Amino acid sequence: MTQAVTSLPAMPRHVAVIMDGNGRWAEKRGIPKLAGHNAGMLAMKEIIKRADIIGVKYLTVYAFSTENWKRSKEEVGGIFNLLVKYVASELAELHENQVKVRILGDYTEIPDAAVKSIEKALDTTKDNQGLQFNIALNYGGRREILQAVKEISSQVAAGTLKVDTITEETISRYLYTGEENDNLPDPDLIIRTSGEERLSNFLLWQSAYSELAFTDSLWPDFTPEEFEHIVRAFAGRKRRFGGR
Ligand code: FPP
Repeated sequence: MTQAVTSLPAMPRHVAVIMDGNGRWAEKRGIPKLAGHNAGMLAMKEIIKRADIIGVKYLTVYAFSTENWKRSKEEVGGIFNLLVKYVASELAELHENQVKVRILGDYTEIPDAAVKSIEKALDTTKDNQGLQFNIALNYGGRREILQAVKEISSQVAAGTLKVDTITEETISRYLYTGEENDNLPDPDLIIRTSGEERLSNFLLWQSAYSELAFTDSLWPDFTPEEFEHIVRAFAGRKRRFGGR
């Protein structure tokens, strides 16, 4: 007898993506690097849609790291202009689809126009219940942990927190993914494009048990089909979290 009920494979709840390869994509075509970032933004739009369709609840993208400030002024300015352009053209549709936007990182340090766009996106989508789209912006994993250590230390110094009561959960709460963003679950799966196989200071604490997937596709070439394929392959992997 065949089984009457086939259950759908469990989708990862939280998928995080390191969108790498925009520069190489542009270089291959002999076009300016910013054109690569623009193509990257278009790819990102499609990935958000697909993540929503297949039932991913949290999608986090690494858009700008604390190390990215070392790039040329022109490139940095260009990326933030793209962000402003992205919010202006996409916010209505994101809102219509119930997407809730969050920022991980100290976005107050980015150019004013981009801060305004971000605040508008956060405010417009704050009550939405659909896909939660987290943009890591001016984000650094070590910086995030350092900041948490400082806050926890000052509480201890002030006598409002006892050293013995500090747990892993305490640290998690003080990260960008913690209380300030309603405690996101850790990423189940982290995908990096462009053939590089490292985390580059992304979600260092939160990735302790994440599955990692790498693809040679450059970010602008990364299709919703490939994204879905990787996510579904994850659903078949067994995670043991250190147990047996
Ligand atoms: C990495 O490619 C990509 C970035 C540093 C920027 C990511 C930005 C976007 C996808 C566009 C806009 C996003 C938002 C939220 C508006 P790289 O330049 O390091 O590529 P390379 O390693 O080939 O040079």
